[in-house]
Amino acid sequence: MLSQEDNDLLTHSGPATPMGQYLRRFWMPVLLSRELPEPDCPPKKVTVLGEDLLAFRDTQGRIGLVDPVCPHRGANLYYGRNEECGLRCVFHGLKFDVDGHCVDIPIAPAGTNRERLRIKAYPTREAGGYVWAYMGPPQNIPEPPLLEFMTLPASHCYVSKKWQDCNWVQCLEGAIDTAHFSFLHMVVAQDEAQALAMLQHAAIGAQGEQNARIRWVRDDPMPRFEINETHVGLTIGGARRADDGQLYWRIAQFMQPNHALVPSAFPGENYHGQTFVPVDDRSCWIYTYTWNPDRPLTEQELERCRRGHTVHAEVDERYVPLRTKGNDYLIDREVQKKTSFTGIEGVSEQDAAIQDSQGEIADRTREHLFATDIGVVRFRRAMLQAVRALAERGEEPAARGFPRGYTMRSGGWVADQGKSLSDVMMERFGHVQGVVVPRGQEENA
Ligand code: FES
Ligand SMILES: [Fe+2]
Repeated sequence: MLSQEDNDLLTHSGPATPMGQYLRRFWMPVLLSRELPEPDCPPKKVTVLGEDLLAFRDTQGRIGLVDPVCPHRGANLYYGRNEECGLRCVFHGLKFDVDGHCVDIPIAPAGTNRERLRIKAYPTREAGGYVWAYMGPPQNIPEPPLLEFMTLPASHCYVSKKWQDCNWVQCLEGAIDTAHFSFLHMVVAQDEAQALAMLQHAAIGAQGEQNARIRWVRDDPMPRFEINETHVGLTIGGARRADDGQLYWRIAQFMQPNHALVPSAFPGENYHGQTFVPVDDRSCWIYTYTWNPDRPLTEQELERCRRGHTVHAEVDERYVPLRTKGNDYLIDREVQKKTSFTGIEGVSEQDAAIQDSQGEIADRTREHLFATDIGVVRFRRAMLQAVRALAERGEEPAARGFPRGYTMRSGGWVADQGKSLSDVMMERFGHVQGVVVPRGQEENA
């Protein structure tokens, strides 16, 4: 449970808010690269952290993320012509480059001062199939985080995004609350074939030993949690009873300020993660990535991702999920009775339904938390402390100094009882924080 003040601090991210200032200290994805597929293609409207912006790819392939308001008389540059390394306003022809410089004023004499016509432009980078932007103070730009999928050949990854109708924080809390798998994503079908068909839709179903893992998750709804701090966030390990007195660990990673890695993968399997980017305080984009460090994804795996299986959602051409708040996620009460716990198709859609249902901004003043919520509690505490440290004492977030600390994995493991989370991390990942050396850089490690 939080006070109203803390709930507001956690969830409001406009430019004038402490969380807004905090989030702006980090790079975050703002588009899929494929949304700007070629030089001089149509620009895209983008709203991030409550700011309406315009993204475009210029003739040389560089990406601009700019204020869309033309400084002449306020026309929107969205209608502009993307031509010869700049976006030209179609009202009277002023032209701007990716850095926001006004590079042509056809309606004024040569020598007119262009500097005062400069528009706001944020630095961008392309990596891992996303366009990343940094919206913080320009004098102090950190290295972008190096998530593992960003270090791999494109053939090893699939990236997507989906719209969600609620505040980003409750989506992230859903991702690190790994206790909910015993219910929200559970199968109730008695029929083996039916259960398998449903599991094949889910991340966990793509993998071997699915019946044992599902059984362990179903039969132990009260995982014991242990949490470690990392250089960039928190490792959240939940242990459930497995067979022969062993424990089944599902280990998620929270990485500052808005990334979470999924706890399902066993060695050799595909990894998944998500980054939650506020559009405004009542909606967000969820950027979702699947990667395999050891091999390219197979055509079948890619097809499953494209069709919105595993952790990806089934979306329309605007990246809005087909099963969404407006249609009650196409909940099927017959299916809910006989096959799946929710009657809603898709892990991503099950998550969305329940996160949206917490309200556009979840009211954390009325909660009653249990021991299984400890990951969420620790996340909130870490965020509130870091946001206050920046707002009150000017302390820059420590995670910014560890871009390589983001090259980490999450996943599952079966271990003997009596082991600490740190022991289990060493067994599963060979590193206490789950950090891996980027591909091709092993000799520099
Ligand atoms: S409003 Fe853009 S050039 Fe006049
Ligand atoms: Fe979930």
